[in-house]
Amino acid sequence: MKKRLVIAIDGPAGSGKSTTAKLLAKRLGYNYIDTGAMYRAVTLFWLRKNLPLAEEYVCNLLPEISISFTNSSGELRILLNGEDVSEEIRLPKVTEFVSPISTYKCVREFLVEQQRKIGESGGVVMDGRDIGTVVFPNADLKIYLVASVEERVRRRLLELQQKGVVISPEEVRKQIVERDIIDSTREHSPLRKAADAIEIDTSNLTIEEQVERIYQLAIERINK
Ligand code: CDP
Repeated sequence: MKKRLVIAIDGPAGSGKSTTAKLLAKRLGYNYIDTGAMYRAVTLFWLRKNLPLAEEYVCNLLPEISISFTNSSGELRILLNGEDVSEEIRLPKVTEFVSPISTYKCVREFLVEQQRKIGESGGVVMDGRDIGTVVFPNADLKIYLVASVEERVRRRLLELQQKGVVISPEEVRKQIVERDIIDSTREHSPLRKAADAIEIDTSNLTIEEQVERIYQLAIERINK
């Protein structure tokens, strides 16, 4: 029986994590888990309640929240209390609040516990901000993706435009830069490269190239 790895892919917004993780998981026959979608689902639940942005309000909501993933014709879908919210969680309104909400300790503990359960038996590619540092510090392969701000803005803008979202490049840039700051300076599990993670700059790589590079690293570890 071949070893089924836990692969952690971390990095800032627009660095290519989810596209890479999705394709890599497909190639390896693993499950792909988008942990950012889980933080987004909590944020959406809070937004719908029209409550002030304060830790105690968000913490009190957690017992009402159940998050799960399903596969619909090969596409990962996220369910919030049974409702498919895969599209809604990408809206700029959710993006605006997800990083502040992700700083709350109760939110992190709530989601990290679920992420560990999902990944414990291996055969998983998980992307996020703290997968290699906190969720799976013993992951078999840790990748840290980076890219220039210009390139990350360009990618995110394209992604939003394709979905018909009207937003200016300046606004996208502002959201990315602000999230980078909040995510990397927060007290609990900030975004940073794990000491044993392999850093890949995707600014000038095609998706195929970056997937291929990580795939080869995974194969080396499977055969070891
Ligand atoms: O896809 P994008 O890079 O825009 O973000 P995402 O992966 O959907 O994550 C949205 C936000 O959730 C991030 O900016 C972080 O604030 C938070 N997050 C986190 O704190 N820890 C994770 N493991 C994943 C996401």
